[in-house]
Amino acid sequence: MQIFREIAPLRAFLVEKRRSGQTVGFVPTMGALHPGHLSLIEASKRENAITVCSIFVNPAQFNNPDDLKKYPRTLEADQSLLEKAGCNVLFFPETKTMYESESKVRFDFGDLDKVMEGKFRPGHFSGVALVVSKLFHIVEPDTAYFGQKDWQQLTIIQHLVSELKFNLKLKSIPTLREPDGLAMSSRNTRLSAVQRKKATVLYRALHEARQWLTQSMGVDEVKKKVQQLLENDNEVKLEYFEIADSVNLKLLNRVDESDRPILCIAALVGEVRLIDNMFLYP
Ligand code: PAJ
Repeated sequence: MQIFREIAPLRAFLVEKRRSGQTVGFVPTMGALHPGHLSLIEASKRENAITVCSIFVNPAQFNNPDDLKKYPRTLEADQSLLEKAGCNVLFFPETKTMYESESKVRFDFGDLDKVMEGKFRPGHFSGVALVVSKLFHIVEPDTAYFGQKDWQQLTIIQHLVSELKFNLKLKSIPTLREPDGLAMSSRNTRLSAVQRKKATVLYRALHEARQWLTQSMGVDEVKKKVQQLLENDNEVKLEYFEIADSVNLKLLNRVDESDRPILCIAALVGEVRLIDNMFLYP
């Protein structure tokens, strides 16, 4: 695996590959890699001659400085996981390489970034869109791979690509879970053993809510019951539980208002903020 810290040599390397007809797949990450990330790498490997992974903990998308400071950084382990997965290129830039000066560019996605993650993490999606745009310009992939675990992020990036005419395809990959249902996440490593067990409540809540909704329980009632389920434990704090149209992210008061409702949840387990989602009709 080739490792690049600078933009120009990476571009030169990829220009050569493209010239010889090789396709480039791209998996942007913030590192602390787990099998969920690796499933994106594997999808890219299957479909492209060259797979590029980036690891960059992007300050612009953290609205909470403590979260940024405590974000797990495990470069050596990441490198060896990527080697084993057969990744061809790792782009691991320094902050000053990605942000030469403080950025003045801001993105506004209208309704899409005013709900759920966007509401609870002001500026988050502007920071995500900024770094993803920079990375797309640097790597110029044929296809970029994103996880459904961050459904709102995926939806916003679809809009970004379409509006700004990025010449690439997006592919979305289903959420990989631990055997007990917890969605794999870099943040899970920050949970204590006790908190780790409690964290399954997000998955259980989604699962139960899906049952209740398919048994025709109303959305308000389901929301109340989810709140109660999480309030059972004083180390778990629900931030939001919403049912949204998975295409336009409009929040639903009745599930029959949409063909593709998605259930989205965010909660703090101790100090660690976790998110998850599930389609109502899988
Ligand atoms: P990060 O949280 O590292 O996630 C990188 C990619 O892995 C995202 O597309 C995410 O949806 C996907 N992913 C995370 N957990 C997953 C799981 N359990 N199963 C499948 N895919 C999973 O998302 C980001 O980084 C950043 O916002 C980024 C897009 C890199 C911009 O900084």
